Amino acid sequence: MTKARKLSPGKLIIASHNQGKLREIRALLTPFGIEPVSAGELNLPEPEETGTTFAENALIKAHASAQGADCVALSDDSGLCVNALNGAPGVYTADWAEADIYEGGPGRDWYMAMGKVEGKLAELGPETDRSAYFVCTLALAWPDGHSEIFEGRAHGNLVWPPRGKLGFGYDPVFQPIGFEQTFAQLDPQKKHEMSHRANAFNKLVEACFD
Ligand code: IMP
Repeated sequence: MTKARKLSPGKLIIASHNQGKLREIRALLTPFGIEPVSAGELNLPEPEETGTTFAENALIKAHASAQGADCVALSDDSGLCVNALNGAPGVYTADWAEADIYEGGPGRDWYMAMGKVEGKLAELGPETDRSAYFVCTLALAWPDGHSEIFEGRAHGNLVWPPRGKLGFGYDPVFQPIGFEQTFAQLDPQKKHEMSHRANAFNKLVEACFD
């Protein structure tokens, strides 16, 4: 296996406009002498996610920011995969939250999205398998076109009704294996120790930091 390209300390563009992801990625990067700057702060446009896999979408976002800012960029493409729904919503996790009108304009309604998943499970009956996993694919892209990719997962079960106010997205319905609380009830530090994002990030650190 070829060795991954190393990341030098300094500026790193975080190719995301999602505040929840930005918060978590910043916390994960803090110990490594990296100066995270978000794509939003640099007014970089959000490219269309036209891929059919997490890796394709992560690469689209990372390359767009690396080219736009002429600087190494890190992206995160992630989603919830429900086993009884054959892995849906998967790469379309954010799309399932698209709402026409939300708080006065088009946006994402996470409560509706969680309800959509729950509705589909309910259609399958009370004995349905409620296991699910989050996937996080992190892509690093350099302005010369080089890229590295890392995938992490977190396994758990879906609960209803949603519980907790921490985290973001589908956290209130995701109860990780071995815990009584959902991701939205757990202390953020605890989530960082075991989340799909932390899992992918640990692989990135091992490969790309000296
Ligand atoms: P995308 O990567 O921009 O396509 O969006 C993925 C979506 O998956 C996010 O907007 C969240 O709703 C959901 N998601 C990803 N990671 C997490 C997480 O850690 N907790 C809850 N939801 C997540």
